[in-house]
Amino acid sequence: MDKLSFAAAQAQPNIALVKYWGKRDAALNLPAVGSISITLDTLWTRTRVAFDPALDQDRVSLNGRSDAAEAKRVSACLDLLRARAGVNWRAAVDSRNNFPTAAGLASSASGFAALVHAGAEALGLQLEDADKSVLARRCSGSAARSIFGGYVEWAHGALADGTDSVARPLLDAAAWPLRVAVAITSTAAKEVGSSEGMRRTAQTSPFQSAWIETQEADLAAARSAILARDFEALAAISEYSCLKMHALALAARPGLLYWNGATVECMRRVRALRGQGVPVFFTVDAGPQLKAVCEPSAAAQVSAALREVPGVLDVVETGLGAGARSIRVEELAA
Ligand code: PMV
Repeated sequence: MDKLSFAAAQAQPNIALVKYWGKRDAALNLPAVGSISITLDTLWTRTRVAFDPALDQDRVSLNGRSDAAEAKRVSACLDLLRARAGVNWRAAVDSRNNFPTAAGLASSASGFAALVHAGAEALGLQLEDADKSVLARRCSGSAARSIFGGYVEWAHGALADGTDSVARPLLDAAAWPLRVAVAITSTAAKEVGSSEGMRRTAQTSPFQSAWIETQEADLAAARSAILARDFEALAAISEYSCLKMHALALAARPGLLYWNGATVECMRRVRALRGQGVPVFFTVDAGPQLKAVCEPSAAAQVSAALREVPGVLDVVETGLGAGARSIRVEELAA
């Protein structure tokens, strides 16, 4: 290459309904369990990757700032793409989110899915989505799922090299267009990141083996609820998986307490609504934000109810969206 080669991509965060927690291989980022998620739509990461023969190192800008720890993860991800293409060109990466980074909204999932998509295109690699999912997984586990839209399952896989630990779409977003209200209860960065939390849990939580043994049944239940578009069944299995993951992590030493008071009050509010017949359920990841998933007819009522909960700073509403895709460079800041 003797001149700049660039591409841009967009990807959206995803939220797990059957949770991933634990790694069977930390170096390859292989999960101890499979997981099922939904990809969101109005929240996005847009990333431009420009391989430039004039650069002697990668330059990484995230939301207009450079951060050494994040830049290292981005370079490690670009190294996987460079190895595939058999090149060692350095790149300038410019990435933006339209939602708060590190606030428990899975910015690493959308970020690495967009990076892999744009980087592969800029290098002229002809990759299948499944290949992109494997590469994104190695950069950030849950990024494997953001390559695809709608309802997505990421397989645990059986191979030691992880080539079968890949995500695949289960159902299109348009086939069952549920809505999501994200109740933001804190904008502080989380105290214990997911990789450290998973390591601590595996080493110290007495519930680790029960977690792994019961996951296949949860995945089967969620898969059939999704394919049957059975809201009540999906609500039951999703809240169960969420609370089970947190019970597992709470029992680590020292215990991982990702919730604040407002998170718990939001859970109670969602359960009270469902008790009144409103089709809504909650899920919470490794942070204090609560995600309420509901039928479209209930979206306005759910958002209004969450806004009333003391300690809720904001509620962001979104639907379900598409997987990672190419965009024009002009769309980056749009
Ligand atoms: O992919 P990571 O390392 O950000 O871990 C994600 C962990 C959870 O969000 C708590 C669960 C999940 O399946 O996304």
